[in-house]
Amino acid sequence: MTFTHAANLSDLVEDEPLAVRLGDEQIALYRLDGEVYAAHNVCTHQFALLSDGYMEDGCIECPLHQGKFDIKTGAAMCAPVTQSIRVYPVKVEGDRIMIDL
Ligand code: FES
Repeated sequence: MTFTHAANLSDLVEDEPLAVRLGDEQIALYRLDGEVYAAHNVCTHQFALLSDGYMEDGCIECPLHQGKFDIKTGAAMCAPVTQSIRVYPVKVEGDRIMIDL
């Protein structure tokens, strides 16, 4: 596994997604119940950045058509989304959020 510095923990607020770009990858970081999660930031339905959506009940709601994904697993939770988003391993080292692409 190769972990890359994605953002600082102090910049990630509970229940507010944070968009980061690592090379060509668009990633959304989430802080949920004190834990950090990372997932692909583009909806699998059409082009929308999930980091512009709302976090609720452990899910991120797409801002375009309100499809939902489980933040921890990336699973598609309701129509119109049927395809999961990719999630990435995360570790936190001090203030540094590291993710494995
Ligand atoms: Fe995300 Fe349609 S673009 S639900």
